[in-house]
Amino acid sequence: MEEPIVVGLDVGSSKIVTLVARIENGTTMRVLGVGIEPSQGIRNGNVVDINAASDAIARSIEKAERTSGYEINSAIVSLAGAQVSSTNSKGIVGISGRVIDQEDVYRALDSAQAIAIPHNREIIHVIQRGFIIDGQEGIRQPIGMHGYRLEVETHIITASSSTIGNLRQCVAQAGIDVSDFVLNPLAAGEAVLTETERNLGVAIVDLGGGTTDIAIYVNGDIWYANVMQIGGNHVSSDIAQGLRLPLDVAEEVKIQHGHAVLDDIGGSESFNIVTFGSEQSTKIERRELVNIIEARVEEIMQMVEQEIKRSGYDVMLPAGIVLTGGGAEMPGMRKLAGKITGLPVRVGKPENIVGLTDQINNPACATSVGLLHWALLMTETHQIMPEQSGKDTKPQKAKAEGFLGWLRKILP
Ligand SMILES: Nc1ncnc2c1ncn2[C@@H]1O[C@H](COP(=O)(O)OP(=O)(O)OP(=O)(O)O)[C@@H](O)[C@H]1O
Ligand SMILES: [Mg+2]
Repeated sequence: MEEPIVVGLDVGSSKIVTLVARIENGTTMRVLGVGIEPSQGIRNGNVVDINAASDAIARSIEKAERTSGYEINSAIVSLAGAQVSSTNSKGIVGISGRVIDQEDVYRALDSAQAIAIPHNREIIHVIQRGFIIDGQEGIRQPIGMHGYRLEVETHIITASSSTIGNLRQCVAQAGIDVSDFVLNPLAAGEAVLTETERNLGVAIVDLGGGTTDIAIYVNGDIWYANVMQIGGNHVSSDIAQGLRLPLDVAEEVKIQHGHAVLDDIGGSESFNIVTFGSEQSTKIERRELVNIIEARVEEIMQMVEQEIKRSGYDVMLPAGIVLTGGGAEMPGMRKLAGKITGLPVRVGKPENIVGLTDQINNPACATSVGLLHWALLMTETHQIMPEQSGKDTKPQKAKAEGFLGWLRKILP
């Protein structure tokens, strides 16, 4: 039996990542192909230049094809700056006393989607949280049970149609079909969070280049998600302005000497930089740099805190916050996040992957690895052709079952 091949495409504001993986024995994710390219034409998660973005996507895809030996025709694609909004909705259907089957669950989910959505928005996720049969709440798996009335509680996430349309066009121009969109923080959560954290209550915070994404998990399910259009690029441009440096130098200085907590930096620390066009090197006090960084990171963390409060689930997060994304690599970030939010914080990177992992075994690749997990959920529509044989790598549903077991019941 052939094992499913899945493809994830993370179109980030800083980098574009394409991953090809094989699901072995229904549980092991073996990464076969990696294509990481600097991003272009994407700002704060939104497409601002279709041709530039599409070229960068094509380069990333080609790299992944070359490393994996597979021809990529479709992928699960991450979605970020789409003015996301989410709402709770309940679906109800009659059963008339017989045994509930999959069809009834689909009907209930359909009915939950019958809500008024503005014409310029699209549903991207319908997340099922729990079922109620004849008034009895807290049912996790209704199939096989008897009842007269089946209710499903869902969380519906919508995004702006034009943002979705532009991203779809970029990807299509690179020769790839979007098999599904997955909201950035939901992908990152899938790659980074443990089962225990999700059950206890946790917020995943993905600190990207142009966006900061949040998803909140309670009782094992997603209860809230949002994307804020601020990120590490703002920190770099503050440094560029404050220290009067070109943006690329500011970015490098941030990565080499950056820190999020001013109190942790000694007064005597300094470094030298040589900027293009100038003869001699300039000495910079590290405290001056960190002062600039701290101010902006504090602002971002305050926005994270407000967003968590706004969700209404701030008191339901005993597992605290898991930071991921490139920004989570900044020293002191964990400490600052803890100080501002008052919650326990850890830094998370993608877990449970084998194969070509050295380039992606870091927080910045949480979203792309998470897309692979999502792709598996929808294996049937995510097939690609092996270049060598030209034979269809049809995924085996039965094999995917075990893996699906630990993935939450999320529908496309
Ligand atoms: N070691 C590091 N220290 C500080 N910041 C870092 C480090 N490594 C990466 N970053 C920052 O992380 C950001 C990029 O993160 P990431 O790769 O997760 O973004 P992205 O996924 O491309 O963007 P987005 O998700 O916002 O669309 C940049 O601002 C970069 O400067
Ligand atoms: Mg990202």
